[in-house]
Amino acid sequence: MSHRRASVATVVEPSLHALACDLVGGDPIDERPERPTLGQALARAKPRQVTSARRGRSRFCVVTLEDGRSFALPDRCPHDGGLLSDGYVEGNRLVCARHGWEFDLVAGICPMRPAVRIDVTELRPGRRR
Ligand code: FES
Repeated sequence: MSHRRASVATVVEPSLHALACDLVGGDPIDERPERPTLGQALARAKPRQVTSARRGRSRFCVVTLEDGRSFALPDRCPHDGGLLSDGYVEGNRLVCARHGWEFDLVAGICPMRPAVRIDVTELRPGRRR
């Protein structure tokens, strides 16, 4: 599944997924066997891209900002469990496609809910993942 935001089809796709999550009360496509490893996702990263990845059995969201810095965080929104890898980038923030919560990747916070912390790791090429 591509997470590029360049066409209408890819813009609509996360919204449909979010709708499906709301309808069934969870994530109907929770398992994504095609998830690349964190290293593979980093190697393919493009500015303003959000994608899914894995490390072992753990699922991650990999976000690359406009300046090329990439970050990994668990692929579960702290609001209601939506897949953050369905989100999109605005500045230094990842926006969850499901209800619009925003996460500042550099600061590791949710500006809308200051008490909410997110576990973000900056990914750098050449480091073991
Ligand atoms: S699941 Fe609600 S904002 Fe992410």
